[in-house]
Amino acid sequence: MNQKRILIPLNKNSYEVIIKGGIINSIGEELNRIGINKQRKILIVSNEEISNLFGEKVLNSLKKDNFSANIFNIKAGESHKNIESLNDIYNSAFKFGLDRNSLMIALGGGIVGDVTGFAAATWLRGIEYIQIPTTLLSMVDSSVGGKTAVNHPKGKNLIGAFYQPKAVFIDPETLVTLPSREFKAGMAEVIKYGIIKDKVLFEYLEDDKNRDKILNLDNESLIQIINNSIQTKACIVSEDERENGIRAILNYGHSFGHVIENLCGYGEYLHGEAISIGMKIAGDIATEKSLWLKEDSVRQNNLIESYGLPTQTPKIKKNDVNTILMGDKKVRDGKMRFILPKKIGEVDIFNDIDESHFLKYFD
Ligand code: GLY
Repeated sequence: MNQKRILIPLNKNSYEVIIKGGIINSIGEELNRIGINKQRKILIVSNEEISNLFGEKVLNSLKKDNFSANIFNIKAGESHKNIESLNDIYNSAFKFGLDRNSLMIALGGGIVGDVTGFAAATWLRGIEYIQIPTTLLSMVDSSVGGKTAVNHPKGKNLIGAFYQPKAVFIDPETLVTLPSREFKAGMAEVIKYGIIKDKVLFEYLEDDKNRDKILNLDNESLIQIINNSIQTKACIVSEDERENGIRAILNYGHSFGHVIENLCGYGEYLHGEAISIGMKIAGDIATEKSLWLKEDSVRQNNLIESYGLPTQTPKIKKNDVNTILMGDKKVRDGKMRFILPKKIGEVDIFNDIDESHFLKYFD
């Protein structure tokens, strides 16, 4: 059966991402394979919906291989990506007696993954954790690379740590139960990889036959686009694990995306929808500054729209946009940094973009 293994090569604690249909039913075997001792206690963190779909499968597979595990569900949704959910995980870790040798498993989408990762980074000063992402977005982005966080009332992901997982197990078959809107939102991150570094992926996504296969959840096509996305992420993260430089290009479309999510209310636009609009704005700025050709910008926007994603900027006020951008983590020494495309497959970091270049896209 088709499967892919990708090494995330880091100075310390390199790890593997395995992409394989049905892997959710053999997590016990996988833990054995990577040398996890059966005496170690395991806490699976998920949410109710994902637990109902996949919790038993993971538990049964662990039991079959003589691991002892419990599941704890946090509340679903961005509004629960906070200190309270973190505290709930700590309480559960205490209840089940998790010690320094224990293991957490994040089973779910990006929110579960980010909060569990941060809980693992901080429980008893850090225990190991595994990512089992169940949404396209978390498969291609948040489960890989070690960014863990919870939100603060003043902003998204303001409290967090770089803390790499021990392994990432991706089962594309779990996407069958993902609502179509969420699947499409995940495609925004895949398209992002095409624009920032992988022209071949971009062209693969443009092909009508491939698009049909992807949108019909053809296993081989899913493995291919997830693999290509993670290969790019692996290459960037291994060069700049803590985002001192090049890793920022993974945030293409995200500055304006975060503004839109924040000002329209989290939930109005899914993350991938907001960054689709963000990529459109970044592309327009790049066209205006003659950084890339108008036809590249048109190709980008057509591709985004062909996967059912939005490109139309919602009505939000210029002043509010500026306030949010200045509070963004991407501001360094008071200067805003933007990732803009130079051609399909190449972007760069720009510090010289002033308000006049982007405020005109807002009310
Ligand atoms: N999601 C962007 C990154 O991992 O750096």
